[in-house]
Amino acid sequence: MRDYTQPAIEIAKEAGQLQIEKLKQTRTIEYKGKFNIVTEVDKACEKLIVDFLRDRFPSHDILAEEGTDIDKSSEWLWIIDPLDGTVNYSHRYPLFSVSIALLNKGRPVVGVVYEPNRDELFVAEKGGGALLNDKPIRPSKTKDVYSSMIATGFAYNVADVDRNNMNHFSRFIKKCHALRRDGVASTDLCYTACGRYDGFWELFLRPWDIAAASLIVEEAGGRVSSFNGGPLDIFGDEILASNGMIHEEMLGILKE
Ligand code: IPD
Ligand code: CA
Ligand code: CA
Repeated sequence: MRDYTQPAIEIAKEAGQLQIEKLKQTRTIEYKGKFNIVTEVDKACEKLIVDFLRDRFPSHDILAEEGTDIDKSSEWLWIIDPLDGTVNYSHRYPLFSVSIALLNKGRPVVGVVYEPNRDELFVAEKGGGALLNDKPIRPSKTKDVYSSMIATGFAYNVADVDRNNMNHFSRFIKKCHALRRDGVASTDLCYTACGRYDGFWELFLRPWDIAAASLIVEEAGGRVSSFNGGPLDIFGDEILASNGMIHEEMLGILKE
């Protein structure tokens, strides 16, 4: 797997560097939906990563947020969020990331999330554990929601759908120690993997938001699932991640 992981790390770091270089410059913002924006940095990072992976792995499929969809019916699929946290980035709020996953026959086998501002690199290989800057990570040992710091997020269609997460949000905020909304699903998951958060849930995330980081949570020793406790579908519309110990309690609160 190292043959795939090292190139993913190399190009994730390069894209992160580009994000930092461009952070202070004025950006052109386009709207993809009512609140869903894209900057030229999202597009430049996608091009950088896709060109690199196409060159290294010409037979592989690639799916990325800003439009790349290369389908050669390969058993290998790269899934990329070139800039997770675009709204943060466009407001110069210093939390955003690059997320790169490699799937084999539909299952994530490599996950790389790079947060350039803190120079934090999260990496997991299927069966090989999870690392933060080369050191093994584990989730927290928090035993109940009452003592937990939990994260969530809201989809761009929050104003237009009934399943807008407000019901879950209002229940959790009354039951947990602290609830955060950072605006970067991939780092929410990685922070759950390394014990900064005890759990995370969100609706309507896309595969590029979660493919890499869900593997990182699992490989760190945490648990990921759908809202009924069944296996996570990275192409589905709900994700719950936790340290494992508070998972059942979180599932109960989501079902209330
Ligand atoms: C968004 C972030 C955010 C989540 C949104 C995502 P983007 O991704 O991960 O945390 O709440 O649902 O769309 O657009 O910044 O890549
Ligand atoms: Ca994203
Ligand atoms: Ca993005």
